[in-house]
Amino acid sequence: MPESFSPGLEGVIAGETAVACVDQGRLLYRGYTIQDLAENASFEEVLHLLLYETLPDRDQLAGIKSTLFKFRPLAEPVVQMLRPIPKSVSMMDVLRSAVSYAAHWDPIRGKDEAANGQRALWLTSQIAAIIAARFRLMNGLEPIPPKEGLDHAAQILYQCHGEAPDQLSADLIDLTLVLYAEHEFNASTFACRVICSTLSDLTSAVVGAIGALKGPLHGGANEAAMEMLLKFKSGEEARQWIREALARKEKVMGFGHRVYKHGDHRADVLERKLRQLAAQKGQQRWMEIYDAIKEPMVNEKKIFPNVDYPCGLTYYLLGLPIDLYTPLFVAARIAGWSAHFIEQARNNRLYRPLSQYAGPPVRPVPPLEQRKQAG
Ligand SMILES: CC(C)(COP(=O)(O)OP(=O)(O)OC[C@H]1O[C@@H](n2cnc3c(N)ncnc32)[C@H](O)[C@@H]1OP(=O)(O)O)[C@@H](O)C(=O)NCCC(=O)NCCS
Repeated sequence: MPESFSPGLEGVIAGETAVACVDQGRLLYRGYTIQDLAENASFEEVLHLLLYETLPDRDQLAGIKSTLFKFRPLAEPVVQMLRPIPKSVSMMDVLRSAVSYAAHWDPIRGKDEAANGQRALWLTSQIAAIIAARFRLMNGLEPIPPKEGLDHAAQILYQCHGEAPDQLSADLIDLTLVLYAEHEFNASTFACRVICSTLSDLTSAVVGAIGALKGPLHGGANEAAMEMLLKFKSGEEARQWIREALARKEKVMGFGHRVYKHGDHRADVLERKLRQLAAQKGQQRWMEIYDAIKEPMVNEKKIFPNVDYPCGLTYYLLGLPIDLYTPLFVAARIAGWSAHFIEQARNNRLYRPLSQYAGPPVRPVPPLEQRKQAG
């Protein structure tokens, strides 16, 4: 095998997948374009597609919905574990710990593909329930059980707020879950596959993936993008700032992508909905700020918004606290992570790349009394 070195594995094909691809800038989940899915499929349908390779028929869809409902309640020790966590701890850190802890009450037996399919559904429900339980505890409220008949996205909002959401909010959350569900060999999915490749278990791989997703160069960008927009009171202020930021060569959160160099279709799909939402809510000022940042990025720098840019503001206009944005990304990407885990396990080869050594040359260990440290 010839050795090659590519920092960040840029341009390296690190594995084979049938789950998704980015084909000439088009994102496909198992052959369906993201635009088509965003228009015509719910998160539960996409979850079925990713896990079981086909879009569900009516009975299969009803089946997956009832399984998600059944798996929603948290074990009592998990709720107890959430209570004493300080309010200052981020929701992503809580989620990472709580998913790991909840796994001690994993109701699924076995590690084969069928068991992991069920475990993926259990994790999907538990992650959503943990987010909602933490949200309520942060607000001095008791976690509540799920309400029968609500779809996954609506159920998240219901378990947070204690009342069934309006259709617009439920539809928009569902859309973001569809857009976030999968994205081939991104950093967190790769982390998940690496953990799977050691023959570890699905929950361990998901906990590792949550850690990878948290960073602002990956999923944390939806929170970072909104934090940035909140600095401005007007489009003019934002325009002034972006000029200075670009002159300082600052990274602007929610823009750019390792794979998409001519724009991210997910961002286009969501931005259209965001514009409608802002108009309906009489929040045009936010779109002026949004556009003031976007225009010079696209027109002058040719760096396009990724999905996190419109997503941050969409969640904000839906009244969600910023700390929830990346956890909602987790609530969606659990679908892709699980599908990749199952695929990796089916045809496994341990991930063990080489490194290019850049340390000191070989040298003897000096006796203790001779190890005087510099400074
Ligand atoms: C996602 C990201 C890490 C991909 O980066 P990458 O493929 O490693 O590309 P690089 O960071 O090498 O960027 C290439 C060039 O574009 C510039 N660039 C890329 N993204 C930029 C951004 N968001 N803001 C300003 N400049 C950016 C870089 O500064 C670099 O310029 P240079 O060649 O003059 O040094 C990067 O675009 C980024 O940090 N974006 C912000 C975080 C974000 O939104 N992440 C979510 C991704 S879905």
